[in-house]
Amino acid sequence: MEKLLALEMVRVTEAAAIASARLMGRGERDAADHLAVEAMRAAMDEIEMAGTIVIGEGERDKAPMLYIGEQVGAPGDGNAAPEIDIAVDPLEGTNLVATGSANAITVLAASERGGLVHAPDTYLEKLCVGPLVAGHVDITLSPTENINRIAEALRRKPGDITIIILDRPRHATLIDEVRTTGARIKLITDGDLSAAISCAVSGTGVHAVMGIGGAPEGVITAAALRCLGGEIQARFRYRSDEERERGARMGHGDETRVYHTEDLASGDNLVFAATGVTSGDLLEGVRFFGGGARTHSLVMAYQTKTVRFVDTVHMFDRERPPSVRL
Ligand code: FBP
Repeated sequence: MEKLLALEMVRVTEAAAIASARLMGRGERDAADHLAVEAMRAAMDEIEMAGTIVIGEGERDKAPMLYIGEQVGAPGDGNAAPEIDIAVDPLEGTNLVATGSANAITVLAASERGGLVHAPDTYLEKLCVGPLVAGHVDITLSPTENINRIAEALRRKPGDITIIILDRPRHATLIDEVRTTGARIKLITDGDLSAAISCAVSGTGVHAVMGIGGAPEGVITAAALRCLGGEIQARFRYRSDEERERGARMGHGDETRVYHTEDLASGDNLVFAATGVTSGDLLEGVRFFGGGARTHSLVMAYQTKTVRFVDTVHMFDRERPPSVRL
């Protein structure tokens, strides 16, 4: 399933990226998200699969498309189409697109049925690291202790590592503590999912992501980090009794429980695809030219142990094809 699916799935994230990138810098975050959702939904129906959205745009009554439980995909031709669970974030970084800022991506993860945890649209406290640090951190310890462990695993001083943290008032204490360790910090306005992938790719200059962000993004992060050999540790964080009850109904009532990478993304046939919308640490954004566009994607499959960077030229007009450049 994986081999075929990975390359099919990248067409889905590419379509969403091209659609939403048209609105870069136009201040229309909801419209950009809507275009990504529509394009992603349409592209999914071209793939032969019995797909179920397990993480998406919300509950059925709130989201017209890509809602939790929605069935997607084209019926198989003769053979039964494979049963697949899909977690999507059609546009991670809606504000980033609206302001033309770096690191907006379109992203999804897929697995055999039951391979991705069903998470409520609440928060997760996250600690994400790359392959060299995996197994050396513990979210129940203090940020200081974890930074010392990250530095030791990388054979660096704390001052030589960089931590990404979402720039939010809720992180004031965390930011103060990280500063006292001497570690460098990159505060981001949005996009802790693409940040977490960056810390598992060497050369990006990022070594960990700490702090509280979206739970759905956390599950997709887990799929990516499993493919890359990195690690996420996480705990659900609820802002109200209503959220707590919603989480409990999905089996996540215990806020002290630490979820590890395999708890969030347990599938053996995980596939991950992301396409850059605006250029960032990891991926180029969509570049438009007369008659076409060029996209840059990351496609990974756990079982086949492959990580592909895919550079695609999309020709919109066969009559007047653009000249393809290296
Ligand atoms: P969008 O849904 O607007 O794309 O925002 C994404 C994001 O920045 C995630 O990367 C992050 O996990 C979450 O929002 C943080 O939520 P909040 O903005 O409520 O702090």
